[in-house]
Amino acid sequence: MPQKIIIDTDPGQDDAVAILLALASPELEVLGITCVAGNVPLARTSRNARVVCELAGRVDVPVYAGCDGPMRRSLVTAEHVHGKTGLDGADLPDPTMPLQPTHAVEFLIDTLRAEPAGTVTLVPIGPLTNIASAFERAPDIISRVQRIVLMGGAYFEVGNITPAAEFNIYVDPEAAEIVFRSGVPLVVVPLDVTHKVLTTPARIDAFRALGTPVGDAVAGWTDFFERFDMAKYGSDGAPLHDPCTIAWLLRPALFAGREINVEIETEGRFTTGMTVADWWGVSGRAANALFLGNVDADGFYALLTERLARL
Ligand code: BDR
Ligand code: CA
Repeated sequence: MPQKIIIDTDPGQDDAVAILLALASPELEVLGITCVAGNVPLARTSRNARVVCELAGRVDVPVYAGCDGPMRRSLVTAEHVHGKTGLDGADLPDPTMPLQPTHAVEFLIDTLRAEPAGTVTLVPIGPLTNIASAFERAPDIISRVQRIVLMGGAYFEVGNITPAAEFNIYVDPEAAEIVFRSGVPLVVVPLDVTHKVLTTPARIDAFRALGTPVGDAVAGWTDFFERFDMAKYGSDGAPLHDPCTIAWLLRPALFAGREINVEIETEGRFTTGMTVADWWGVSGRAANALFLGNVDADGFYALLTERLARL
């Protein structure tokens, strides 16, 4: 039986690659894609998710639009990284498949109530607004979630959108706090991991060498996406953040981490959105997350390229 997942996302080139990896993998059944405002506003993220489904030939996957901004703050976006559309780098047609009429938060609540308890894993790869809103509106669904595998936060790498905070957590820290305190088993893929999976020229060439529309799009996206991080970090390429969540579901042995306590800073003068990760076990607070710290980057790219070749 494939693992049932819901991908909650703000595409974003790296979100798009995560969606493709999931759709290419028979071990996973994508029940739906819920969109949130993040890298770009909601109108674009909910468009982009459908562009990606059509690229994968999967118009059967339902796509829902969710929250258009954080629970209690103004939206911060990241066009400076992802471009104006969020999917700059590949020229793809406007989608023809419709958005579902239901709000993403309603879909999350209805699905978690309808499916057997403990069988649906949530994969949030954007700000946590949709997930936290669903938990706040329908607390009965919290204990029905099998696990949450999310991209967000950092410990050793500290921050990317501010010196202290990673983008997904920074955009909606109140939502992140609800999720991290929910009691649902969490797997956290922080910048400490994603900054180790860089898109080197050889890895991008391997995407292009697939010779398919999917390979061309992923090569184009990663070419575009990396210019920002190469300039910022002086690195060989850009981190492909979000696909690490799907890769963990497929091949957890590629990753290593620790069960630790992670709290979210919501009131910091300079540190709002920081993931206060007790990596060294000094707080005495109970563990609430498997916080990943390392990854076999060659293994990750081999898996990703092999799966993209199936689309
Ligand atoms: C995260 O922020 C977004 O820009 C990416 O899509 C990823 O989810 C990395 O900080
Ligand atoms: Ca994202």
